[in-house]
This record gives sequence, structure tokens and C-alpha cells, in this order.
Amino acid sequence: VIDIRALHPQLGYFTFDPGFMATGSCESSITYIDGDEGVLLHRGYKIADLAEQSDFLEVCYLLLNGELPNAGQKQEFDHAITYHTMVHEQMQFFLRGFRRDAHPMAVMCGLVGAMSAFYHDSTDIHDPQQRMIAAHRLIAKMPTLAAMAYKYSVGQPTVYPSNDLSYAQNFLRMLFAVPCETWKDNPVLSRAMDRILILHADHEQNASTSTVRLSGSSGANPFACIAAGIASLWGPAHGGANEAVLTMLQQIGHKNNIPEFVKRAKDKNDSFRLMGFGHRVYKNYDPRAKVMQDTCREVLGTLGIKDPLLDLAMELERIALEDEYFVDRKLYPNVDFYSGIILRAMGFPTSMFTVLFAVARTVGWISQWKEMIEDPAQKIGRPRQLYTGPVERPFVPLAKRG
Ligand code: ACO
Repeated sequence: VIDIRALHPQLGYFTFDPGFMATGSCESSITYIDGDEGVLLHRGYKIADLAEQSDFLEVCYLLLNGELPNAGQKQEFDHAITYHTMVHEQMQFFLRGFRRDAHPMAVMCGLVGAMSAFYHDSTDIHDPQQRMIAAHRLIAKMPTLAAMAYKYSVGQPTVYPSNDLSYAQNFLRMLFAVPCETWKDNPVLSRAMDRILILHADHEQNASTSTVRLSGSSGANPFACIAAGIASLWGPAHGGANEAVLTMLQQIGHKNNIPEFVKRAKDKNDSFRLMGFGHRVYKNYDPRAKVMQDTCREVLGTLGIKDPLLDLAMELERIALEDEYFVDRKLYPNVDFYSGIILRAMGFPTSMFTVLFAVARTVGWISQWKEMIEDPAQKIGRPRQLYTGPVERPFVPLAKRG
């Protein structure tokens, strides 16, 4: 706590908390995490139950509306989402302005930000109906935009959405059009995709969600706020970790090399960290990582793939969890540790991993944004700082500077 009475007698004190280690920024009834016990609840429902018994669109409805839908509400919601899956055709031209080798997350920042220009008829944040349409548009269009970014990067034409498929099946079809019947007929794969989406749907006030809330607190356009969230998610300490895990496992290459990498991760003079390990809130096993590990086994089994990276990941987890350094700091595998292996088996290029996370997290971002806008006590977010620069001094004209 910093006493700023001398500078600002009217203000008194503010807390100095870099990284917001101990700062609650809002009230929220969407997601509950008990990091010590490894508990994650959405609107009171356990993440493992949702992953096992629900589907992604049902979880979207839950996050947005606070309750699970009944059969009629579910049908209506599915219709509302499929109604919005197409994107404005002009966005194809916008897409074509990007280099083909651009990172798909860079393209997603641009495409989603551009939605604020293409869909300005649903951006009156004070109109509840428009807020809901903006939410539906985002949930519906994210897979279409993600698939457009991917197809563009591999030089293939866009595949338009198929509204008779489930959310996960449609997404897989738009990405991998050729084996569409395989996806459709293979419940394990489409179920795995649905589960990955559910596991990433929301996670309370993480960096990207806080970014969305902070951007939105000024009354900014909701699509632009989600683009800001995508930019924040991209970093390797956040959603970019799933890509970084795979790169790390490939670098390790063989079980025999694990001790060397574990040693590096413990060395404070080395910036290397075990990617997919540790979490700001979980000081226990991330409940999503367990479901992800089971899903990983199912997918590899179904596809008949024996991926040495899975064995490597499991061995790395075993060694790290027996190591005093990781035990003392309560560093456990997080949701990103196994997701990359599943996505790789399904045919996703590494650069698309974080895009997939963004598709899933969009519902969390927009639900949190909506909750914030609907809070009568909502204020613009405006953190303070501790100024460490020079005191006031006279301006020196250029000719007199040494
Ligand atoms: N490997 C090695 N050491 C680690 C790791 C790791 N992955 N994570 C944390 N530590 C160590 C730190 O060096 C620090 O040690 P010290 O106390 O001796 O200085 C201690 O554990 C605490 O770490 P902090 O960085 O202070 O923890 P913080 O809460 O700030 O960071 C984070 C959390 C960013 C997730 C961190 O654990 C990390 O970088 N993990 C790897 C990246 C990753 O997997 N990110 C995905 C997070 S989940 C998500 O966003 C979906």
C-alpha cells in the first residue's frame, strides 16, 4: 500500500501490485477457481462434468446467460449461432491484404478488429439486444474467420460454413474440407474438438480477459475489445504456451535429454521455463489438464497414432512432479501441456494452436464484457503507477544540449 497523501491529499493511498498478484478487479458470477484445490466451476458446474456431459454451444449459453438451456432454449440458441456463421464477403478482400506467411494470430487480430467496421449495426453497448447479437456474431464467426486464416496460409480457397453440422464438426470441416466425412463420422474426433473448446471457454480474470474488460471499460466497440483480447492471448506466457510446449518437446527430442532441460528450467540465470507448467492461480493439478490428457489418449488411439511426443510429455511430467523445485513451487501441468499433442494428431499446424484457443475463449471474453457493461457500478479501468522518472526540470533548447 502506497501513501500518496503528500502528493494527492484528496486520494490517500493506493496499492502497488505489479502483475496484479493480489488485486481483485471486478465482481463476477461466471467462473470460480480454487487454485489450491484444483477446482474450476462455470456458473457452479464442474469443468469435468461440462466436458463430459455438455457440448460447447450449451456451455456458451451457460456462460452468457447464467443457466443451462432447456431443450427449446438450446434449439433457439443453436439457430441464433448458425444464423451468423457466414462473414461479410468483403472480408475476403481484407484477408487478401495479409502476407500468406503471416502468423494466423496476427491475421486474427486484424480480422476480428475489422468486424467493428463490418458489423457496426450491433455495437450500441447500451442496447441489450445489440449486445447479445454482438456476442452471437462473435461466437458464430470465430471458427469461420479462423478457418479462413488457415486456408489462406496454405493457399487454399475458403470453405464456407455448413450449418447442418455441430459447431465442432463445422469447424473441422472448414479447416480440413477434404476428410469432412471422416470428421463427421468419427465421434471421438469431433467430441475431442468440442471438449477442447469447452476446456478453454473461460478462466476468469486472466491476462486476455482482463484486457477485454479494460478495453471495454471505456465503452469501446465490442469487436475491437475482443481483438485486444486475442493480442494478449498470443503471448507464450498465456495462450501461446500450447504452441511453445510442442516446440519445447521437439527440442527435448528424447527422454534422455529431459534432465538437461529440467536443470535449465531451474537455473535462474537461464530464461528457459518448462512450458505448459505452472499457473498464477492453480497451485495444484489444473483440472483441465487431466481431461486433456485423457482426451489425448483417446484421440491418438482412435487415429492409431503412436506419437513419441506424448511419451516424452508424460515422462517430463513424471520427472518434474518428483523434483523438489517443482514440488516446492507447486508447478503442475496446465491446460496447454497436452492440448498441442492432440491438435497435432488432428492435423493442426503448430501456428494454429493459439487460434483454436482464441475461438474457444471468445465466449468467455464476451460474457465477461457483457457482465461488466451490465454492472451499474461499472467504471472505466484506470490503474495507477509509481513514477520513477526525473522530477520537473527546465526545457533545454536543442542548440544548448551537450
Ligand atoms: N518452469 C520453471 N520455473 C517456473 C515455471 C516454469 N514453467 N513457472 C514458474 N516457475 C518458477 C519461477 O521461476 C518462480 O521461481 P522463484 O520463486 O524461485 O523465483 C516461481 O516458479 C513462481 O513463478 P512466477 O513466474 O512468479 O509465477 P507467475 O504466477 O507470475 O507465472 C506463469 C505463471 C506465467 C504461467 C508461469 O508459471 C510460466 O511462465 N509458465 C510457463 C508458461 C505457460 O505454461 N503458460 C500457460 C499458462 S496457462 C494459460 O494461460 C492458459
